[in-house]
Amino acid sequence: MHIVVVGTGYVGLVTGTCFAEMGNTVTCVDVDKAKIDRLKQGLLPIYEPGLDTLVEQNYAEGRLHFTTSLPEAMLDADVYFIAVGTPPGEDGSADLQYVLAVAREIGQNMRHPYSVVVDKSTVPVGTADKVTAAIQEELDKRGVSHEFSVVSNPEFLKEGAAIDDFMHPDRVVVGSEDERATRIMRELYAPFTRNHECTVVMGVRDAEMTKYAANAMLATKISFMNEIANLCEVLGVDVENVRKGIGSDSRIGYHFIYPGCGYGGSCFPKDVKALVHTAEQNDFEPWLLRAVEQRNNTQKYRLSQKVMARFGGDLSGKTFALWGLAFKPGTDDMREAPSKVFLSEVIAAGAKVVAYDPVAAEVAERELPREWFTNGTLTLVEHQYDALNDTDALVLVTEWMPFRNPDFAQIKARLKTPIIFDGRNQYDPAALRALGFEYQGIGR
Ligand SMILES: NC(=O)c1ccc[n+]([C@@H]2O[C@H](COP(=O)([O-])OP(=O)(O)OC[C@H]3O[C@@H](n4cnc5c(N)ncnc54)[C@H](O)[C@@H]3O)[C@@H](O)[C@H]2O)c1
Repeated sequence: MHIVVVGTGYVGLVTGTCFAEMGNTVTCVDVDKAKIDRLKQGLLPIYEPGLDTLVEQNYAEGRLHFTTSLPEAMLDADVYFIAVGTPPGEDGSADLQYVLAVAREIGQNMRHPYSVVVDKSTVPVGTADKVTAAIQEELDKRGVSHEFSVVSNPEFLKEGAAIDDFMHPDRVVVGSEDERATRIMRELYAPFTRNHECTVVMGVRDAEMTKYAANAMLATKISFMNEIANLCEVLGVDVENVRKGIGSDSRIGYHFIYPGCGYGGSCFPKDVKALVHTAEQNDFEPWLLRAVEQRNNTQKYRLSQKVMARFGGDLSGKTFALWGLAFKPGTDDMREAPSKVFLSEVIAAGAKVVAYDPVAAEVAERELPREWFTNGTLTLVEHQYDALNDTDALVLVTEWMPFRNPDFAQIKARLKTPIIFDGRNQYDPAALRALGFEYQGIGR
């Protein structure tokens, strides 16, 4: 099949590349010319394990193409995936300007007798109707009539494991009211569901809601566990024992019940916000979702609060080693990362920070305030132990694997004072205390 994927970010690039890997001819489109030029040279805009090799191979084989021109891309294809961003607007709603701009451009350039337009971006219930209307309006302006169907096909990949998630999906959700479009979607996804059929076909609005419900559920699990952790701390209970105790119940399970310093990323924060907004727009009070969001917003301050409780509100003259900048391991994505809140708080209180992240340094240089680098408040280093030299404490924010079982003797030797703030409960408090460390985790 010939397909077009519009928006070549995390989702678009992974989607396009994986479809190409299955033998389809795919054109990835993006308005960002620099991104497209770099992709043509084999340079990826994001860090995602395994993606570079797949892009390189499929590009070389002529199955994967990159362009800034949607009209050109549409000439040979009649299935169009919309995978552009849906960032939060000022009121928390999902900003649909990019999705609708693509829909209009599709309408302006539709030429085939029948086309399928697939909403892959995370979009609120009712968006497919807006996309349909935007396309139809452009066709009417042109005075042409082409048959088309808008399908919802939300994406569930996880950054850091995106290829594996896309290649071996738990389920493929297809929201479609049109048999012909459903058949095309099934054909497209058949290579990914050969092991067992896991395509769930449903109404378009059902599919749109499914994506939000999934992310809201995961965010709820995290916020629930963070609330329990904070209560454990007050009660003198170790939340890690509680976590294992409840996770062993198959009705609860071990996934997504790790306490920590809050969830970040491009999805959970914005999707919970957008769902709250959708509820409000429909005169529905989303008590639970509001609490999930509120708990997470405050949880991101837990580490800086602990540091200030230990060292005082004025941190001038103090320097902290920070391990991890990305919002989670396996990615260089720093959108809504808890590290940003920690940095802002301790730097505002006068501290300096020396930070290490295995892959996010370049993104950090781009996204964090310039003056932190120029006035020497924030230094990025290339090796994890180099962050520690003469600092007052180690603060762990992202649980990258090399941080899990580090050389504690080296940590102790390099730190000015042997103190560890563990924002992801990676270490055993008793073992660290036996090694002479002062240790603070979350909820322990
Ligand atoms: N990142 C994830 O892990 C993830 C997972 C599941 C779903 N999603 C959803 O997928 C969507 C995309 O997310 P992302 O993280 O890939 O975004 P992203 O910001 O990484 O990429 C979006 C891309 O779209 C491009 N773009 C914007 N307007 C365009 C236009 N008119 N024509 C062509 N390209 C255009 C941008 O230049 C950018 O490269 C969002 O709705 C997101 O919520 C993301």
